Amino acid sequence: MRIHFSVLLPIVLSLLYSLNPCLAHADTGAMECVIFNEDGRQKVKAPLGLPDLVIPADNLMTPEKIALGEKLYFDKRLSFDDTVSCATCHDLRLAGTDGGAVSTGIKGQKGGRSAPPSVNAAYMDTQFWDGRAPTLEEQAKGPPANPIEMGMPSHQFLVDKLKGIEDYKKRFQAVFGGEITMDNVAKAIAAYERTLLSGNSPFDRFRYAGEEDAISEQAMAGMGLFVGKARCVTCHQFTASHALFTDNNFHNLGVGFDTGNEKPDLGRYEVTGREQDKGAFKTPSLRNIALTAPYMHDGSDKTLEEVVEFYDKGGHPNPNLDGGMMPLKLSDNEKAALVEFMKSLTSSDIPGS
Ligand code: HEC
Ligand code: HEC
Repeated sequence: MRIHFSVLLPIVLSLLYSLNPCLAHADTGAMECVIFNEDGRQKVKAPLGLPDLVIPADNLMTPEKIALGEKLYFDKRLSFDDTVSCATCHDLRLAGTDGGAVSTGIKGQKGGRSAPPSVNAAYMDTQFWDGRAPTLEEQAKGPPANPIEMGMPSHQFLVDKLKGIEDYKKRFQAVFGGEITMDNVAKAIAAYERTLLSGNSPFDRFRYAGEEDAISEQAMAGMGLFVGKARCVTCHQFTASHALFTDNNFHNLGVGFDTGNEKPDLGRYEVTGREQDKGAFKTPSLRNIALTAPYMHDGSDKTLEEVVEFYDKGGHPNPNLDGGMMPLKLSDNEKAALVEFMKSLTSSDIPGS
């Protein structure tokens, strides 16, 4: 029996879409993801070097929800005076950072910390330098009502503003089956952020795809130091199957504790109140590090060379300095190799850039 092409085509297409709902909305630009189900859980297929991302059961992804989150992420109307969006401080061309030592919100106001990358933030066990938000959903509720960042008088104020925009009313109805709420604003943004995954760097191709010439000999020497003499891997971890370059833990390196700084940021201590957490910050991932200068929670190191000098000296002395910090006695060649290795963690595939 001969089956006519016009009968088969819709079947093939719907099969394709059910495998990859992202394809159905390829026009939105947010859809470089691949959503699939495994072991009863929804996951996003990760790029080389990263683990597939498990999606929380209470915020499953759909192409429409991702597209709504993308629109919100880039929309300056989320700020009080329509001047600042999430993307202002988390620019995807800079792997989701803003290039400043600290961030600048509405009316030119400066915050106290550097913007960490939104790209790959989905892999963090907690959000913010001090881990005060447990999920991307909780994190996304922070900036709109932060007086320095987006400056909305309240969450309700933002919700009412969005309710006055016809396109949002329709889209929230379609995605969540109801009126706009702050929880659903946060859910849509978080769903979009779970598509901002970036791997497949030269390092990943070398380590996880067996491409022996993907990184230079100098970078290879740097990798040897990273896992050996320089001990970086104890906190910026990677395994045989993937590399997050973070232990998802908090450490005091003494950043901000240089002489002259009277009131250093106490970081994790502000969340836990535990003495030993004074001055501890979350280990950031080193992915796309060539794009995310300046470095550290206060942007105090302008270049990767400065970061390596900082570690070579063993950080800044203070009562809670992490036990893993000590002078490394690296030669100039070794310092250069470490920098070269870190550059190889930078990907040319960053979603949205
Ligand atoms: C004015 C600049 C600014 C704006 C606007 C802004 N952020 Fe941030 N973002 C920051 C800074 C600074 C931090 C770190 C603050 C801290 O750790 O206390 C941060 C932290 C984060 C983190 C945590 C990443 C990690 O690894 O811990 C995520 C995710 C994030 N922002 C997403 C967003 C989203 C989504 C929006 C829009 C709703 C947004 N940001 C708006 C500056 C900004
Ligand atoms: C004891 C754990 C630990 C060790 C060991 C360690 N790091 Fe870090 N690293 C951190 C933490 C925590 C931060 C953030 C500190 C802060 O801002 O206060 C950080 C920040 C960085 C940053 C800045 C990242 C950014 O986004 O701003 C770079 C680059 C870096 N480390 C590279 C290295 C290198 C290279 C080594 C080895 C020489 C190393 N680290 C060893 C925990 C560690």
